Amino acid sequence: MTTKFKNIKDSTSEDWKAIDQSYYELRDQLPNRLIETLRQLDTIQGALPVSRLEHSLQAATRARRDNKSDEYVFTALFHDIGSYFTHVNHAEISAAMIRPYVSEDLHWMILHHEIFQSYHYFDKIGLDKNARDQFVSHRLYEATVEFCEKYDAPSWDAAYDSLRLEEFYDLVDSVTKNKRR
Ligand SMILES: [Fe+2]
Ligand SMILES: [Fe+2]
Repeated sequence: MTTKFKNIKDSTSEDWKAIDQSYYELRDQLPNRLIETLRQLDTIQGALPVSRLEHSLQAATRARRDNKSDEYVFTALFHDIGSYFTHVNHAEISAAMIRPYVSEDLHWMILHHEIFQSYHYFDKIGLDKNARDQFVSHRLYEATVEFCEKYDAPSWDAAYDSLRLEEFYDLVDSVTKNKRR
């Protein structure tokens, strides 16, 4: 059923039953839309050693090979998805996109990873690399340092044997299935 109102003020409770029903069907398409958006990161490389898709696959592959949880691997896979839409505040977009599916801790980590990651290169572009110090007493400081150190920073290696995107389909499906909302 397609509802017919022209102004939302005129919508009926029957309309909203139908809209609610269709929402569940649309929600089931979300994992696929996340994957297809991630795939577009293959078009973003510029002068970087690998594309942002390859970077994401490497980060997720390293996390999986370290036996991190599925939710952590999912987080690593999508940590830069926001860079498809914006650069300077990509962490905010990535964090917002994964928020329905991951813990508050993983969400915080991705929301702040851009600041923590800058520790590894901001001094080379004349900026303050120690901006992460403002969070030094935060309980997730060490976890975010670890994410950047082990999974984000090293994942620009053109020779790394990363898993293909297809190999993460089941993981994306299971992580999003449990918590879709
Ligand atoms: Fe990033
Ligand atoms: Fe990254």
